[in-house]
Amino acid sequence: MTTVLVLNGPNLGRLGSREPDVYGSGDLDDLCALLTADAPDGVTIDLRQTNDEAELIGWIYEAVDSGFPVILNPAAFTHYSYALRDAAALVSKAGLPLVEVHISNPHARETFRHTSVISGVATGVIAGFGFDSYRLALTAVTRAG
Ligand code: DQA
Repeated sequence: MTTVLVLNGPNLGRLGSREPDVYGSGDLDDLCALLTADAPDGVTIDLRQTNDEAELIGWIYEAVDSGFPVILNPAAFTHYSYALRDAAALVSKAGLPLVEVHISNPHARETFRHTSVISGVATGVIAGFGFDSYRLALTAVTRAG
């Protein structure tokens, strides 16, 4: 039995109504249902969202202390939060996977989105596949071997 923490940063609570041309029409409940359906036996999906950097960092500590893999969409924090980067580094240092995901492809958007301060401490990065970015990340963190 393991839990995968699926952590979402600022403004992702508005999925469904926020820029549907960029992020699609599904909301976080839809995403949670998709991941729960995909999860292999014995894997629990714990999906959370916050607009608060400190709360997000606290959840990353929880993953480290509990030994949970992390799927992280840092949203706008991706581009400037060194505090979140330092917390994310603790996950890989603990030998746990942390996959950075994005619904859109930030590299095909405004220049400020081309920089991620998180990628350098992530196990891997998946971007541009809509909610499938999370589904691919779930496959990556739950596959054996
Ligand atoms: C995002 C991309 C970020 O640039 C943006 O700030 C978001 C969402 C994505 O999932 O495509 O809020 O992380």
